[in-house]
Amino acid sequence: MSDHHLFGQVDQYLEDLFIGEDPVLNQVLANSEAAQIPAIQVSALQGKFLMLMVQITGAKRVLEIGTLTGYSSLWLARALPADGQLITLEFEAKHAALAQQHFDLADLSDRITCHQGPALDTLPSLEGDPPFDLVFIDADKVNYSAYLDWALRLTRPGSVIIADNVVRRGQVLDPARVADEDERIAAQAVRDFNATLATHDQLDAIALQQIGAKSHDGFAIARVR
Ligand code: SAH
Ligand code: DHB
Ligand code: MG
Repeated sequence: MSDHHLFGQVDQYLEDLFIGEDPVLNQVLANSEAAQIPAIQVSALQGKFLMLMVQITGAKRVLEIGTLTGYSSLWLARALPADGQLITLEFEAKHAALAQQHFDLADLSDRITCHQGPALDTLPSLEGDPPFDLVFIDADKVNYSAYLDWALRLTRPGSVIIADNVVRRGQVLDPARVADEDERIAAQAVRDFNATLATHDQLDAIALQQIGAKSHDGFAIARVR
């Protein structure tokens, strides 16, 4: 059995064990596929991990950068109390529209607001709001460092910042050797982001590599000092 196949099977085993059937999230994935939107959402296991992070931190205000069609948003929002809020930012109108349908489908529209447009245009408008307790960064990789700056501006000591795709199948080791130009630029941006996160005097941080259904990638997790 190839390692890749094995990692996929273990993900399936853990998903069966810890998650099981989830009709709403299955419908979200089916709708996204029917709309020909790339299946680049977090895995089910990563989604439940995000849900647990919201529960463990007791977060009431969550910010997500990169909605896609709302798969990770729903995991995050499920853990919110009735008076909790998820603000999620999405560039593509088609993605944002389907995400809104999914928030309605999951009966979580009252807790989720999706702002459509480039996240860097929307983030300044959030500055007057109360601080976010948890931020999930998962949009365009070239702007990860800019999103980190905003995350720090919009949080408080004790807030948690999580970022997806900080390993990129190992491409972060040596971005210059990545053949595809867009992939190379993304790998370098994420490498810069990781370096900032690791050395930032306002953060305690770690990155964990992950293997599984989504090949080989990782989450970074930081706490604001
Ligand atoms: N968090 C989602 C996956 C996000 S995929 C999940 O796990 O379910 C990344 C998303 O970021 C895509 O939908 C893409 O359109 C969006 N994106 C790319 N550039 C962006 C930008 N500048 N501002 C906001 N969203 C952006
Ligand atoms: C891809 C995966 C992601 O998790 C993401 O946020 C963006 C793109 C990808 O596999 O292309
Ligand atoms: Mg991602």
